[in-house]
Amino acid sequence: MSLSTVLSPVSLADAESQFRRDYPDYQTTRLLDELRATEYARLDRAGHVYLDYTGGGLYAESQVRAHLDLLMQGVFGNPHSSNPTSLAMTHLVERARAYVLQYFNASPDEYVVIFTQNASGALKLVGESYPFGPGGRYLLTFDNHNSVNGIREFARAKGAQVVYASVLPPDLRIDEAKLTAFLDRAQPEAHNLFAYPAQSNFSGVQHSLDWIEKAQAKGWDVLLDAAAFAPSNRLDLGRWRPDFVSLSFYKIFGYPTGVGALLARRAALAKLHRPWFAGGTVEVASVQGNRYYLHAGAEGFEDGTLNYLTLPAVEIGLKHIENIGVEVIHTRVARLTGWLLSELTALRHGNSAPVVRIYGPVDTRARGGTVTLNFYDPRGHFIDHRLVERLANQVNISLRTGCFCNPGGGELALGISAEELTSCFIKAENRLTLDEFRRCIDDKSTGAVRVSVGLATTFGDVYRFIQFARTFVDKLADEL
Ligand SMILES: Cc1ncc(COP(=O)(O)O)c(C=O)c1O
Repeated sequence: MSLSTVLSPVSLADAESQFRRDYPDYQTTRLLDELRATEYARLDRAGHVYLDYTGGGLYAESQVRAHLDLLMQGVFGNPHSSNPTSLAMTHLVERARAYVLQYFNASPDEYVVIFTQNASGALKLVGESYPFGPGGRYLLTFDNHNSVNGIREFARAKGAQVVYASVLPPDLRIDEAKLTAFLDRAQPEAHNLFAYPAQSNFSGVQHSLDWIEKAQAKGWDVLLDAAAFAPSNRLDLGRWRPDFVSLSFYKIFGYPTGVGALLARRAALAKLHRPWFAGGTVEVASVQGNRYYLHAGAEGFEDGTLNYLTLPAVEIGLKHIENIGVEVIHTRVARLTGWLLSELTALRHGNSAPVVRIYGPVDTRARGGTVTLNFYDPRGHFIDHRLVERLANQVNISLRTGCFCNPGGGELALGISAEELTSCFIKAENRLTLDEFRRCIDDKSTGAVRVSVGLATTFGDVYRFIQFARTFVDKLADEL
């Protein structure tokens, strides 16, 4: 199948003109069209439609060049020493650290930046070090990434209670009354941690940042997972003061991979107890004395040698985003998402049955550029997301399918009940394969299709996706 053979009622040029009339402030993001033609030209050279920005951002050519130039000109040693090459590296590492604080408007008196491998690494640091204990609680929303869900295992192992706060279909927004009731149950004599995503990587919903202060006022420490939010929204830590923030830099600016951060309030960091020590984290450790002193601040949380050569590229990447302006990226993402949502919801089969079902809000209020959906045939049968991915691959569209490491979002959206899941887990003596699991839950879809837009997305990209979506019109699931 080739997209050019698919009949569209409106040409790209006409559709784009109409789109620009409908969303006049899209014009304020024209710099991104220029950058697409220069910094991100490889997308069009290779004919790619990249729609997985929630999976990973894309880098500008100049980011890579600036980083390579730095590496080619400098001589950098392991920053754990104090020789000239080591000091040169330490200087750049500390510059990158300071720049991260500046980018998020976080006061160095209040926050520290701990470099990690990724957002999951940041989350694990909190999970393994938080003083969970009997009487304490770990409260989290349903629509978290697995790396936030996984913290429950640390909480349980230390005897804390784990509580999930539901999000409500169809919009998958927080059930405010329930969450407030859960927050009212903090145990004052124990430690209570509340975790939620600033933006869901399943539904794109942006949960209100007001929950941070509300929860803190009721005695909770707050872990804000900003991994999916930060790429196209300003996170101002001068205004919002979560105790911990997790993020991955590649999601914001594509390069380098392998670096994330935990931004932690100094006061909250002092509560954490690391379960071990490692090279780099100790000021003094003795074999015969059988004791150690951990470094204060970030260093006490950075195990071994940092991925130090990549850290200057973090500053380069953040500067690239600042030069564009995160508000410009935000506007672009919001308008393209608005158009995508209105086209997708309008798409109908000949018998007027909808072609897609969207999981999450179908308007752009308090949501980001992540749109999750399943395709349905005219008889209402869902089309397997894995087939959709295969068909998208054939026309060079990169999208994501499955549950995106966010099982809670998927279970609620797809209507899979706790009873069904529990019985499938119990029924099988040995673990089930994904296909067996699916058969166990009555052949329901265990996943969905996710398209997400970002700083290098053009109108042409989303137009091509809608053209692709049109190829499902009036097709029966068993004919595809
Ligand atoms: C909301 C959210 N949190 C956490 C993560 C984990 O990020 P990483 O895989 O970089 O550790 C992701 C990744 O997709 C995410 O979207």
